[in-house]
This record gives sequence, structure tokens and C-alpha cells, in this order.
Amino acid sequence: GLRKKEVNVLCLGLDNSGKTTIINQLKPSNTPAQEIVPTIGFNIEKFKSSSLSFTVFDMSGQSRYRNLWEHYYKESHAIIFVIDSGDKLRMVVAKEELDTLLNHEDIRSKKLPVLFFANKMDLRDAVSSVKVSQMLSLENIKDKPWNICASNAIKGEGLQEGLDWLQDHIK
Ligand code: GTP
Ligand code: MG
Repeated sequence: GLRKKEVNVLCLGLDNSGKTTIINQLKPSNTPAQEIVPTIGFNIEKFKSSSLSFTVFDMSGQSRYRNLWEHYYKESHAIIFVIDSGDKLRMVVAKEELDTLLNHEDIRSKKLPVLFFANKMDLRDAVSSVKVSQMLSLENIKDKPWNICASNAIKGEGLQEGLDWLQDHIK
């Protein structure tokens, strides 16, 4: 059959936002479930959708590793940015990291799609995806397709919808 197009996706966001949990849910269910621990540096995961073959760089969100992110901007075709919707205190930190990302010379001029997961929607004090999008000023992103999906990565809710959108917007 036709070979699936190979795409690199960078998964970013603060530590503890749920990036590894999300990527684990998106991997085929026949891969053994691993215990999820804070990522050191980054992990590379591969999985396929109906039309694409994804290589995901699951980066650590810990501040001491965030300087690794930029080394992967050039070769990425899409970004998944994960937010802990229950962590209102660090929403400004998430915004700072997002702004730094969007202003980076290797990202600024690229029209790559950015998918946001407003994750941990199950938490009692989680803010809505609309509120997350306001707190991060996503309406200011004019030169890239973007979308925000509410998710519960533990149950896997909202993830496929996000991935379908990403697949449709990767060039
Ligand atoms: P780093 O690798 O340190 O950058 O963190 P990460 O973004 O990969 O987060 P990780 O996937 O390790 O998840 C952090 C914690 O949040 C874990 O205890 C997860 O079980 C939990 N978690 C992830 N997604 C959800 C969610 O949707 N709801 C709830 N309640 N907890 C979640
Ligand atoms: Mg991780």
C-alpha cells in the first residue's frame, strides 16, 4: 500500500501537565502500558494514524530541561502544547513558555499547526478550555492554525479529537 507520510511532532508544556500520559494513550493499545514517571530530557515515541506516521518528541517540562525544546523546532511539523487546567498558579508560566516558543526564530515564520490540550478537565477546580485559551491569549496567534481541546488523559477523553484535527492540518 501507500507509505504513510512521516511527520515529527513536538510535545511541549510545563512539567506535570500530562504530556507523557497523553502520548501513552495515543500509542496503540498492544504496546505494554508503562508506569508514567516525570520525563528526563525527552522520549521518542512512534505511532500511526490513518494517513500519517508520527514521531513524537515527548519533552520534559521541568525548567532545567526546557532549554532542550528549541533544538527540535526546525525539524518539527506540528506542536502539541499541554496545559494542566487545574494549575491556575502556573498558567502565567505556561503562557511565558508559549510566548517564548511562538517568538522563536525557528517557529515564528513557520505555519505549523499547534494543538493545545486543556488537560486534567476532570479536576474539580479545572478551568474551562475557553478560559485556558483566554489566559494564554491564544486569539493572538494569527499566523498558524491552532486548536484547543479539553482532555482527560487518564481516561483518554478528548485526545482522538485533537489528533484528528492535527492530522488534518499537517502539511
Ligand atoms: P514531565 O515529563 O515532568 O514534563 O510531565 P508530563 O507533562 O509528562 O506529565 P505526566 O504525563 O507525567 O503526568 C503528570 C501527572 O499528572 C501524573 O500523575 C498523571 O497521572 C497525571 N495526569 C495526567 N493527565 C491527567 C488528567 O487528565 N487528569 C488527572 N487528574 N491527572 C492527570
Ligand atoms: Mg513526561
